[in-house]
Formats: sequence, structure tokens, C-alpha cells
Amino acid sequence: MTDLDFTPAPLDRAAPFYVAGHRGMVGSAIWRKLESEGFTNLIGRTSSELDLRDRHAVFDFFADTKPRYVALAAAKVGGIMANNTYPADFLSENMQIQVNVMDAALAQRVERLQFLGSSCIYPKFAPQPIKEDYLLTGHLEPTNDAYAIAKIAGIVQVQAVRRQHGLPWISAMPTNLYGPGDNFSPTGSHVLPALIRRFDEARESGATSVENWGTGSPRREFLHVDDMAAAVFHLFEHYDGPSQVNVGTGRDTTIKEIAEMVAAAVGYQGEIAWDTSKPDGTPRKLLDVSRLAESGWTSSVDLRDGITSTVEWYRTNKEHIRT
Ligand SMILES: NC(=O)c1ccc[n+]([C@@H]2O[C@H](COP(=O)([O-])OP(=O)(O)OC[C@H]3O[C@@H](n4cnc5c(N)ncnc54)[C@H](OP(=O)(O)O)[C@@H]3O)[C@@H](O)[C@H]2O)c1
Repeated sequence: MTDLDFTPAPLDRAAPFYVAGHRGMVGSAIWRKLESEGFTNLIGRTSSELDLRDRHAVFDFFADTKPRYVALAAAKVGGIMANNTYPADFLSENMQIQVNVMDAALAQRVERLQFLGSSCIYPKFAPQPIKEDYLLTGHLEPTNDAYAIAKIAGIVQVQAVRRQHGLPWISAMPTNLYGPGDNFSPTGSHVLPALIRRFDEARESGATSVENWGTGSPRREFLHVDDMAAAVFHLFEHYDGPSQVNVGTGRDTTIKEIAEMVAAAVGYQGEIAWDTSKPDGTPRKLLDVSRLAESGWTSSVDLRDGITSTVEWYRTNKEHIRT
């Protein structure tokens, strides 16, 4: 079969639904969303129970559990420093995870699979806001090119499975995400959780100045992970097409403004300094979310509110999270 005959429709709430990476920030938000939507047969495995780099184990798992739907939110994920330091690991581990999961899902003819990538797949100097069609039209940001290439391979694998096997699989490309379950480690985290930790520690220690990397001028878009999970679920039920779909708010903010919002949310009142000898990364990254909007979904969590509730989550869970 090579012709897609699928019409997006409500998913069967009783069918086995595998959330790969269900303990991660995104996977756990998807899990919560599916539970709230009444799914009764959710399947999750931690990386110690099932290492998705182990191809035989992944094939056995799919043969045993026979999921009808799969959300592929398992990946090796990190911020600019981790990506720049361990590019070989980011390329190899992500390729292994996604190829194994998609090959095993294909062997079981999983009906709906959604692959999650990242906005770093787009060229560093892509026109803004970034449309889905700008994929593979220019050079990538070198600090995370290995990770981006793995994610691009994932998008192409989804498209190839659609073409060759007629399965209505899709891909979603989230912008920067934040929220409960985030990684707050100083070396492995993304910008927003790193800022929350840095400013909260500065407030606790009574520091009078906090220094941040770069100039603070790059513009970034941030989406709360609960919005992301809602978008993933929406796409499962409403979108069927070969192109990846951008997922974001459609609004961007400078890192400097974000730092000020975080400082206000944690109650830090000292100086906010910038080490301009450190790299800024991509100057602006704003996704064009018109395709998602056309499918009937827009974000709803306000950035200030989302930062405030994430700070509360961080403080409550500080003792037992990734730091
Ligand atoms: N965070 C962001 O800002 C962001 C932005 C855009 C896109 N995304 C995408 O969203 C997806 C999820 O990201 P996230 O932020 O939720 O990451 P995360 O919190 O680090 O979670 C990653 C998950 O992947 C699982 N995993 C990693 N290696 C594995 C392996 N070898 N075998 C089995 N499971 C493995 C982990 O399982 P265990 O916990 O059991 O070890 C974890 O649950 C990724 O595809 C990422 O590219 C994230």
C-alpha cells in the first residue's frame, strides 16, 4: 500500500498508546494530556527499563505491546554547551533512538506516529518567521548541527514511511519549551531553566550581580510544555501531511527581556550583566505557526504566568530534579 487513505479523526481512547520518553519534560506533559483526555491504555518505559538504542529490545517491546499510536518524545536533549561539547553523542544516540523506534513501529504497522524534532533544524539565517518550507535551504547553526541533522533525518524517515508504506505518520517541530520537568543543570540545560536556577541561587546567596552568556540581544520564542502537549494531541487528531508542523506561540522576546522576567519571578533585585565574549547563537528564531493555526490550534499559556509557575515548580521540586 502506498496511497494514504487516512482521514484525521478522534483517536480510540482504549487503544494502546506508547509515549516514548514519558518521564521527560515533553513526554510527561503528553502523558498528563492523554490521561486528561481519557486514554486508558498508555504505555511508558524508562531508559533503564528499555534502552531505545538497543534495536533488538525495541523490536521485542513493539511486538509485545503492539501500540496503535506512538508519540516519539525520547531523545538525547541539551542546551548549547552540551550540544557543542558532545556532538558525536547527540548525532549517534538520537539517530539510534529514532531509527529503532520507527523501524519497530513500521514492523507493527503503527497507525499514527508523531516524531518530535526541534526548531534548530532550520538554517541559521533563515528568513523570520521561519516557515516549514525553509528546511534544507541553508547552513545550520554550527553549535548544534549534529543534533539538527539527526532531527532532519527523523523528519525524512517519517516522509519516507508515508511514501513507501502509506502510513499517516507526522512530525512536529517545537520551538524552545519550558515548564515542569525541565532540566535545570548548569551545563545541560536550555536558556530559560538555566536562568531560573542562576537567578534563584543569586537571590538565595544575596549576590549583587548575575552574569549571563552573550549580549542578551538574540530573540527567542518560548512555549509552555503543557501547550506543547496540547498541540501534539491536536495534531494527532487533526493533521495529516508529509511536512513537519511548527509548534510555537508565534511571538518572540529578547533573552534580556526573558532574564528580566525571570529575575522578577524569583525576586532577584541585583544587576543583570552580560559576558559579550561568549557566543550568542542564532540571532533570531521565531517559528511561523500559520500551518498549525490553520489546523485549528493556538497557544494559550502567557509567558510571564508560565515563568512564574515554572519557578514555583522548580522551588518545590529542587531536591529531586536534574540539577
Ligand atoms: N526541551 C526543549 O526545549 C525542546 C525543544 C524542542 C524540541 N524538543 C524535543 O522534545 C523531545 C523531548 O525533549 P524533552 O525536553 O522532554 O527532553 P528530556 O526531558 O531530556 O526527556 C528525554 C526523554 O528521553 C528519554 N531517553 C533518552 N535517551 C533514551 C534512551 N537511550 N532510551 C530510552 N529513553 C531515552 C529519557 O528517558 P529517561 O527519563 O527514562 O531516562 C527522557 O524521558 C525531544 O525530541 C526534543 O528534541 C525539546
